Amino acid sequence: MEFKIDGKSYNKARACTIKTAHSTIQTPVFMPVGTQATVKALDANDLLDMGAKIILGNTYHLYLRPGSKLIKKFGGLHGFSKFPNSFLTDSGGFQAFSLSDNSKPDENGITFKSHIDGSKHYFTPQSVLDTQYELGSDIMMILDDLVALPNTRERIKKSIERTTKWAEEAIKYHKEQQKKGIGVNQNIFAIIQGGTDKEFRKLSATQLCALEDYDGYAIGGLSVGEPNEEMYETVEWTTDFMPQNKPRYLMGVGTPEDLIENIERGVDMFDCVMPTRNARNGTLFTSFGRVNIKKATFKEDPLPIDSECDCYTCRNFSRAYLNHLFRAGEITYYRLSSIHNIHYYLNLMRQAREAILADNWLEFKKEFYQKRENTGK
Ligand code: GUN
Ligand code: ZN
Repeated sequence: MEFKIDGKSYNKARACTIKTAHSTIQTPVFMPVGTQATVKALDANDLLDMGAKIILGNTYHLYLRPGSKLIKKFGGLHGFSKFPNSFLTDSGGFQAFSLSDNSKPDENGITFKSHIDGSKHYFTPQSVLDTQYELGSDIMMILDDLVALPNTRERIKKSIERTTKWAEEAIKYHKEQQKKGIGVNQNIFAIIQGGTDKEFRKLSATQLCALEDYDGYAIGGLSVGEPNEEMYETVEWTTDFMPQNKPRYLMGVGTPEDLIENIERGVDMFDCVMPTRNARNGTLFTSFGRVNIKKATFKEDPLPIDSECDCYTCRNFSRAYLNHLFRAGEITYYRLSSIHNIHYYLNLMRQAREAILADNWLEFKKEFYQKRENTGK
């Protein structure tokens, strides 16, 4: 991939350009989550209309169903879903840990039971890359060893050791495969672990970032129930051990406020189920804070969700209509609300980028918070 820093602003905020084989991505970027090779309730054209340049897919889910061999037959994730821009795929480590019954890591990989049919499977640093070669994702994540927090120092230390060992194996395997012509247009990111302990984070970051063949580095193991301030502090600390000349990705984060705070701490890329999951539950994001569309006050409200929003939903439909669709449990509600929430996240990132390039980050941030304070949401 090509990587270029376009501008910097307050603290560690940066605006970059990433070029993959399938798209040019301007950062900071939010990547909508498309676990099953679809962002829930949307299709490729909806995402293109919103200007999404990269979305997520999940190795764990797609490996189990429909299988990466089948997806490969259709031209990988791009051919299968018809989303022509970039895909990033998570490795499966996190999903095996969080979705599967009694997943068990050992020195060489992770044993887990399918959440679909209970069948037994084993992921290794090499096997999750083989699956991702078949999926054809533009950015592949390595297998990492996750730990539930809080945990003992020994267990966290073990997780760092294993993640580094697997990262060494993964990059070696990837280079060998590329020499054979496999995965030549695919990039690979390592994942820093270490809980919220500064020495552990430093250790994991320095070990992984010393593996210079990685195309980018992620911060994993956060947003797992720790207080926000602890997450922000961990990110602030960790990004200092990450190289300037490669993308930095904070996995599974977060709220609009989390994105703003972590951009300032040097993060370029984010993903989270929040905009789509919240949309389906009735929580919509606006420039004035969160709105619950099922509230009775919206029953006869002719205004759009957010008068500052120019998404397809806000350009065409009233709060009254969305309130009705939600209450009636209509499928259309899921599509229209997901379009709005994802548009909100993508647009927030576009505005953040402009603020960085204009070097007025603090003003932008102040306005972001002030508008929310005024409505108390
Ligand atoms: N998604 C959110 N956090 C993580 C993490 O720590 N590792 C992986 N592989 N995926 C994640
Ligand atoms: Zn909208």
